[in-house]
Amino acid sequence: MIPERRTDLADKENIRDYAIGVFDSGMGGLTAVKELNRILPNENIIYFGDTARIPYGSRSRETILRYATEDVAFLKQHKIKMIIAACGTVSSVALDTPIVTDMPFTGVIAPAIEAACKATKNKRIGLIGTPATIKSGSYIHAIANTHPEVMVVPQACPLFVHLVENGYTDFNNPVTRLVAEEYLTPVKNENVDVLILGCTHYPVIADLIGDIMGKDVVLVSAGAEAAKFTKQHLDELELLSDRNEKGKNTYYVSDSTEMFEENAVNFLHENVHGDVFRSDF
Ligand code: DGL
Repeated sequence: MIPERRTDLADKENIRDYAIGVFDSGMGGLTAVKELNRILPNENIIYFGDTARIPYGSRSRETILRYATEDVAFLKQHKIKMIIAACGTVSSVALDTPIVTDMPFTGVIAPAIEAACKATKNKRIGLIGTPATIKSGSYIHAIANTHPEVMVVPQACPLFVHLVENGYTDFNNPVTRLVAEEYLTPVKNENVDVLILGCTHYPVIADLIGDIMGKDVVLVSAGAEAAKFTKQHLDELELLSDRNEKGKNTYYVSDSTEMFEENAVNFLHENVHGDVFRSDF
């Protein structure tokens, strides 16, 4: 919710031009940024990738919450009007522990569930994510509450984040394909017709995942759905920018800027050289 002091008109006019803050443990949140750039080209975006502490997905709930709280605090040092936790892991563990209370916020879970439940015809949805996401049961509980007729087939894919962060993303990469077949075959055998990519890193290998799952299975990108929700939410709050020129993306990372610049191209399909800065909180 927006705090009261932010709702008067003069404030709102200023806040409209603030940036959208996005964070992830690493590069994965760039899948949300890519969609934001497509649907909200005039918005400024401030991104934080906690590349020094990735992966989050194999850590404890307490550690993930602590990291997420620090990521949020970092973004709040900038002029931002909404925060997206573009990380399936953070979104899962923070589902019942609000990490942002003083400005508009979204994780990826609710937007992804909405899209997946709309797309399924046979009411059988596959879900892939990090071990922490799957262990949290976040998606299963939320779907049971909102769409009890839908069955979920969950599968943790611990190696995917490492493969993607290290650039093993080619459609024909034999290592990634072997790992993907191992993870996805049991899900495919359950005849799901939708697969939620519950970790924001996974859309980078969506072609390969789609090839294994078969062309009839709809892939839902949690990051992209969070971006779509953000547009709708800011619109409802009358906080979309009315800037006439293209917005700017600024990236902060807690580890090497070079590594981020090199790999970001796999996510964004554009060069981010010169827009990436190192930040140690
Ligand atoms: N991008 C994070 C997610 O969506 C996963 C990466 C990690 O394990 O840190 O879950």
